[in-house]
Amino acid sequence: MTILVEHVDFGSQFDDKNVHSEDINELVLDGGFPQPKNASQNTFFAPEINAFGHSFRNYDEESERQKGVEEFYRLQHINQTYDFVKKMREEYKKLDKAEMSIWECCELLNEVVDESDPDLDEPQIQHLLQSAEAIRKDYPNEDWLHLTALIHDLGKILLLPKFGELPQWAVVGDTFPLGCAFDESNVHHKYFKENPDIKSPAYNTKNGIYNEGCGLDNVMMSWGHDDYMTMVAKENGSTLPNAGLFIIRYHSFYPLHKEGAYTHLMNEEDFENLKWLHIFNKYDLYSKSKVLVDVEEVRPYYLSLIEKYFPAKLRW
Ligand SMILES: [Fe+2]
Ligand SMILES: [Fe+2]
Repeated sequence: MTILVEHVDFGSQFDDKNVHSEDINELVLDGGFPQPKNASQNTFFAPEINAFGHSFRNYDEESERQKGVEEFYRLQHINQTYDFVKKMREEYKKLDKAEMSIWECCELLNEVVDESDPDLDEPQIQHLLQSAEAIRKDYPNEDWLHLTALIHDLGKILLLPKFGELPQWAVVGDTFPLGCAFDESNVHHKYFKENPDIKSPAYNTKNGIYNEGCGLDNVMMSWGHDDYMTMVAKENGSTLPNAGLFIIRYHSFYPLHKEGAYTHLMNEEDFENLKWLHIFNKYDLYSKSKVLVDVEEVRPYYLSLIEKYFPAKLRW
């Protein structure tokens, strides 16, 4: 792996508003909603308990953690503005932070242990491989979907110093569109009242700056690991099917895939791809279990998929 840039200077954009972000040392994984455990419609077996013996995404059991999650969303809702995302996209589109393979990135992400996700007490690579292996079992012929699962969270390297060490609110948590009204289904919606975009008349209608049915590709999403990883895959010429890229870009877009909001911005292809995202999401949530995947055993299979859909080295 070749690290090209030691540190990214983002200027003053994290000043003031970000003053409390150091208080939030915990990493919110893929959103903050408790999920129903009976969402599974097909053969996939969703374990009843997680690594700590509690039900999944049950933040009520840990009110302290709940407070941390709420504070996380307060910061996220205040700081994620249209201009902020525009700046982030410009900065990260340069892909000048590192050069490495997909597998090297999996190993790098392994350094990030998620301490706050109530469902997860294993290195990230276990979450990636557990999701991928569970999907592989139920959809053996969709190799692109196995690989999508493996790479869906790689964008979390944004938390690491070499990749800008972005604050948590700029990397994880549920995502939402900018440039149009914030739908009520967004978790902790009340904190959007402190978001500067709310004062912009152009952004404050249902469609905002977009046309109905414009397609989600044309919509500015809040910045995080989803958008970043999609950008990395596209810019490096990945041949993953569009459904795979769709899953990566919108897997934290809970207002859409859980609440059914923002569908007026979708086009026909988005609706097709959303079906795959619904399938994927079950595995993303429920594969965080105590049963560890033997990394060495499955590595050759995933290396073959990486070779099929990605160049040997990617720019990050
Ligand atoms: Fe994620
Ligand atoms: Fe995930």
